[in-house]
Amino acid sequence: MGAETHVTDQAITLNGVEEQPETPEPAFETNRGGMYQGECQSLLSQYPLTEYKGQIQLILTSPPFPLNRKKKYGNLTGDAYLRWLSGMAPLFREYLTADGSIVLELGNAWEPGKPTMSTLPMKALLAFLEAADLHLCQEFVCFNPARLPTPAQWVNVERIRVKDAFTRVWWMSPVVRPKANNKNVVTEYSKSMLDLLKKGTYNAGSRPSGHHIGAKSFLTDNGGSIPPNVLIPPQDEEALPLFEVLPIANTRANDAYQQYCRKNNLPIHPARMQEKLAEFFIEFLTEEEDWVLDPFAGSNTTGTVAQRLARRWISIELDKDYVDGAAVRVQPDLNQEVAASRPSLPPDA
Ligand SMILES: C[S@@+](CC[C@H](N)C(=O)[O-])C[C@H]1O[C@@H](n2cnc3c(N)ncnc32)[C@H](O)[C@@H]1O
Repeated sequence: MGAETHVTDQAITLNGVEEQPETPEPAFETNRGGMYQGECQSLLSQYPLTEYKGQIQLILTSPPFPLNRKKKYGNLTGDAYLRWLSGMAPLFREYLTADGSIVLELGNAWEPGKPTMSTLPMKALLAFLEAADLHLCQEFVCFNPARLPTPAQWVNVERIRVKDAFTRVWWMSPVVRPKANNKNVVTEYSKSMLDLLKKGTYNAGSRPSGHHIGAKSFLTDNGGSIPPNVLIPPQDEEALPLFEVLPIANTRANDAYQQYCRKNNLPIHPARMQEKLAEFFIEFLTEEEDWVLDPFAGSNTTGTVAQRLARRWISIELDKDYVDGAAVRVQPDLNQEVAASRPSLPPDA
């Protein structure tokens, strides 16, 4: 006879013996955060994560992309994807502080077998925004030279399209003035701007565009330039000549991650967020000690950067292998432990 199971709110009764459901625990933790393995919808609906409702200053995430072909992490397509992603928006919103933000990064997608682009990523962002009654604070574009020239048939073979090299990033919030400070993300002044500030005069007057530039319009030293909403990671200058053949040069931390995955036979996450993107939004939209959540964390770029910037963080990832690999990004000692546990080679080997 099969076991008789009764499920109540709190406990499962199996053949009369009451068993408490297991409380999810982080797969690994640091002094500032922890990464959980599992489905974010489920984990965010149960204790202990429900304790963080109303506490998260920033949800920064790149959800699985709506690809028309299946990737390893099993993407949905079409309307099913729209319903899936937008269905999570109200739950995510419950986690935000009163002036919190959600930042979603989504790549482009193409129609299967045709040299035309899918509008699904844009529809998905809109459906997410509307499902949780959010405001679109600003749209960003993130240049990503690491993207391979795809779709190869249209770009490389038939030469009728150019490389798709950006992701779309939507900054959303339940309020029109979420916490934000662009002084935290100013970039270094260009040489010409520095010269201008030094000279103290400017070619004032009317421009063909119809704008009138006052004598002092651009002469205030704000400590750096206010960045535009097109994000071009600074290391791209070096990577650009290699754009044809090579992905962007990885940072040393990224090298350590890949090294650790190889040594442990773990898959290297194929769609890692650029660290500079995470850095930009975390610095722009949060302060030290604020909480940052990534519900589709992959290799945990968000948590890694949050840790480095002294924010607190929670990350969730479905795939156990990706979680196992991500651990080294916030626990660099793991790489040494692996090295130490490997038998050393004889001196002449
Ligand atoms: C685009 S990747 C995120 C990459 C990540 N930003 C990084 O830097 O590595 C999306 C991730 O979402 C995970 N995922 C898919 N469905 C999920 C779910 N229901 N809950 C949690 N994670 C999920 C996938 O396994 C995948 O690793």
